Amino acid sequence: MSAAASNPAGEASIEPAAPGYDLYAVIGNPIAHSKSPLIHSRFAEQTGERIEYRRLLAPVDGFGDTVRAFMAAGGKGLNVTVPFKLEAHALAARLSPRAAAAGAVNTLRFDAEGIFGDNTDGVGLVADIERNLGVSLAGARVLLLGAGGAARGAVLPILERGPQRVTIVNRTAQKAEALLAQFASAAREARCVLSGGAPAAIDPAAYDVVINATAGSLAAALPECDDRAFGPGTLAYDMMYGAQPTVFMQHAQSLGATVSDGLGMLVEQAAESFWVWRGVRPDSARVLAELRAMLAASA
Ligand code: ATR
Repeated sequence: MSAAASNPAGEASIEPAAPGYDLYAVIGNPIAHSKSPLIHSRFAEQTGERIEYRRLLAPVDGFGDTVRAFMAAGGKGLNVTVPFKLEAHALAARLSPRAAAAGAVNTLRFDAEGIFGDNTDGVGLVADIERNLGVSLAGARVLLLGAGGAARGAVLPILERGPQRVTIVNRTAQKAEALLAQFASAAREARCVLSGGAPAAIDPAAYDVVINATAGSLAAALPECDDRAFGPGTLAYDMMYGAQPTVFMQHAQSLGATVSDGLGMLVEQAAESFWVWRGVRPDSARVLAELRAMLAASA
């Protein structure tokens, strides 16, 4: 693992990439378990892009310094993960519309014009649902559980696919209501009925897609959700993943839904970041199949 070392002045110093290679990394704290280096090295092998991709551990109070040291070493871009997505948003001089709407950045690109911030999480989610799982969001009824950063990043990319209805609910209703207000005009433009608030605002009829964007699965907690939201035609999607199905997936499956974890979202957000950096689209399905096999072997 490559971490930021300190030079005598106390500033982080980072080794440049090998000659002829461009340097990228995933920055977070903790970072040791990130799958991004494996994913991006596979993308590089597939496409022939000459990149070196590392893990970068930043101190919780040292995000900006670590990014600057990385740029000084010639770094071209970063994936940003917990807990730095909001700081990355603040650091970027320019933002993509989807990063501005998300209020968070998971992809930084350093070029002649400075620091560009993007957010590929939401498009990664949409790509996984539509391309990998074969469920179209056009005309669909979508239920989004949660109103934190993960949910907020998903709203605009979902609306852009033309769903008929999006319901956003959250344990703390005011946070869902804030999202409804933020995305009201985007929903109008997309001719989508946007509603929600507290979990009681869930329609008592099966949705086409139910997305768990809460952090509940980390604690094996099931977010409050009317059982009638799930049916045989429902795709129940958990943004989390692990060797075993999450409690949300198990519950949805018991109600007849088709289920998926968020492993494909992880690979697809990486593919979109690769595109943002290199202008080349990798074969994400192949890498997803490899990761899926690795996860199954660890079960
Ligand atoms: P993230 O960046 O992963 O979205 P976050 O911004 O902290 O993290 O948001 C966490 C989300 O998970 C919130 O919607 C939170 O609900 P509250 O706003 O009410 O806190 C939701 N959440 C976390 N644990 C939950 C649980 N056990 N049941 C339901 N919702 C939960």
